[in-house]
Amino acid sequence: MSLWATKSITALRAEAEATGERSLKRTLGALNLTMLGIGAIIGAGIFVLTGLAAALHAGPAVPLSFVAAAVACGLAGLCYAEMASAVPVAGSAYTYSYATMGEFAAWIIGWDLVLEYAMGAATVGVGWSGYFVSMLDYFGVHLPTAITSAPLRWCTGADVTNAVAACATAGWNATGSLFNLPAMVIVLVATAVLVVGIEESAKVNNIIVILKISVVLLFIAFGFRYVDAGNWQPFIPPNTGSFGEFGWSGVFRGAGLIFFAYIGFDAVSTAAQEAKNPQKDMPVGILGSLAICTILYIVVSLILTGLVRYDRLNVAHPVAYAVEQIPQLSWLRPLITVGAVLGLGSVVLVMLLGQSRVFYSMSRDGLIGEWAGRVHPRFRTPYLSTIYVGLIVAVITGTFPIQILGELVNIGTLLAFVLVCAGVWILRNKRPDLDRPFRTPLVPLVPILGMLSCFGLMATLPGDTWLRLFIWLLIGFVIYFGYGKKHSVLQRERAAAAGGESTRKG
Ligand code: ALA
Repeated sequence: MSLWATKSITALRAEAEATGERSLKRTLGALNLTMLGIGAIIGAGIFVLTGLAAALHAGPAVPLSFVAAAVACGLAGLCYAEMASAVPVAGSAYTYSYATMGEFAAWIIGWDLVLEYAMGAATVGVGWSGYFVSMLDYFGVHLPTAITSAPLRWCTGADVTNAVAACATAGWNATGSLFNLPAMVIVLVATAVLVVGIEESAKVNNIIVILKISVVLLFIAFGFRYVDAGNWQPFIPPNTGSFGEFGWSGVFRGAGLIFFAYIGFDAVSTAAQEAKNPQKDMPVGILGSLAICTILYIVVSLILTGLVRYDRLNVAHPVAYAVEQIPQLSWLRPLITVGAVLGLGSVVLVMLLGQSRVFYSMSRDGLIGEWAGRVHPRFRTPYLSTIYVGLIVAVITGTFPIQILGELVNIGTLLAFVLVCAGVWILRNKRPDLDRPFRTPLVPLVPILGMLSCFGLMATLPGDTWLRLFIWLLIGFVIYFGYGKKHSVLQRERAAAAGGESTRKG
């Protein structure tokens, strides 16, 4: 049995076209898909991590970090667009790898996507909780820390030396909190919406996206009048002597962190089987949402560092903090907080959507249990996969701190992007004849540059994060060889075909 057996594109397309009780409902058009992309993209990255990237890594040059991350995402986005139009099947990068690099690569990527979607939902859940608690505080309701923060904290040796709170020893330490209740609640609410239906989920998402874009535009329109150009001097502060702290290395380290802000445009492709005209609309959804968010991010980060000096931005809610510092802008503070609370909520929703669709596809291929492929008879959603994912993500988001989760999400997603770029190149060679409604320009140059730039961003992430990625992949190998390979539909079909062949020969 071959680890490199590929699924035929014709079979994949036929599966996606099939109707029946295991099929999903096709209701999404180009606009809904673009909105879905924006719903997944604008979230904790811009509302939480921008301040951190400016204060610790890039200084006022954080817009350059956004540009660097956008280049990598743009190149990968062009590859995603070709794949999504050529293989418009739920499952995204997982399915593309199955068609191009074979089952084992597909398993690795499917398993790796858990880091992006499930862990992504958990990360944003924690960020959501931070903004939600600050919103309640603003309205005079104070929740106890014991139920609004993680019970565990990962401490480095430096944290112990600097006597950082709850850091008695290097490694995991108890913080004294019980769990992060608001983070768990948002994940469970999003799960419930997703079970009820894709149309309903898209409607909720559309309303939220309009609100969050309005808040971002208000920040831009009013914020730019109070920019103090002196705050941009020096634009790239000198390097402190450590890699990634200001200077050009800081701009790139910032890009490795801020990459999180762009994650989500690819989630559009997981909804391919719910799109009315996926071959035409997928590229619009993927590239359209990415382009809109890139422009917004660059402008917002310029204004943010123009309003407040970068070294004051290392706070949990930097955008709200910045307007608070300018008396003429403080009226924006509650709007930004509410926009962030809703906006981060929609990211959780789309990330969970992506995870359940990837599991749905893996289950239909026999690589994970049959339960994940079951579609609800009335709602026509993969309800069991949605519910189980929701419960597990709720536990994770309630337990772990944001930075550990966020770094894992970035490295896992970047690996998926590298493989999708490789997939486009491979498929062009293997199936030059294939109908591709959208073609990535300049192949193989764009896929190669895409792989190099994503790998470059991976290289800026800390060694601990690489280690966690390897451990995660190792667990994946054990599951694949223990379960997936034995239950794979493709392997069984190939074995049956080979059996028939030898019987005929005999
Ligand atoms: N891009 C998403 C966010 O920033 C994951 O929250």
